[in-house]
Amino acid sequence: MSANEKVLSLTVNGEPKKLLVKPHWMLSRVLREELHHTGTKEACGEGACGACTVLIGDKAVLSCMTLALEAEGKCVETIEGLMSGKNPHPIQEAWLEEFGAQCGFCSPGMIMSAKALLLRNPNPTVGEVREAMAGNICVCSNYEHIEAAVLSAARKMRGEGA
Ligand code: FES
Repeated sequence: MSANEKVLSLTVNGEPKKLLVKPHWMLSRVLREELHHTGTKEACGEGACGACTVLIGDKAVLSCMTLALEAEGKCVETIEGLMSGKNPHPIQEAWLEEFGAQCGFCSPGMIMSAKALLLRNPNPTVGEVREAMAGNICVCSNYEHIEAAVLSAARKMRGEGA
């Protein structure tokens, strides 16, 4: 371990991880380049697009704006953590059924923001969906389908079917 490295211990998608990081490394870099969770995307790299959204605990964070060391001792969830065995998460199912993805680049971040929303508010209004997803940009402008997917996912997660 060199003088400018620190040990980072965290849990990613339920698996404990321990690795050496530089203090200035962002969580997005550690997830993608060190831990190979490339489902998390990085587009703007400056907090403006939401592509890099992951959960720390129940909270959505921009991993390009979060120092990796801020995740010390915490549970991080990425898009790779949503599947349950071979079964997609209800949000992923809803994304497919409602055509929530066009090019798909924004989808991992969108889906993680949707999960954070639905954890704190299982029955959001359209306005609440829009507000919660406002930090996630879709360059294909697929917002109507994305809203429909989040609302459908909410119904599924409440056990009401789609
Ligand atoms: Fe993090 Fe755009 S890549 S907000």
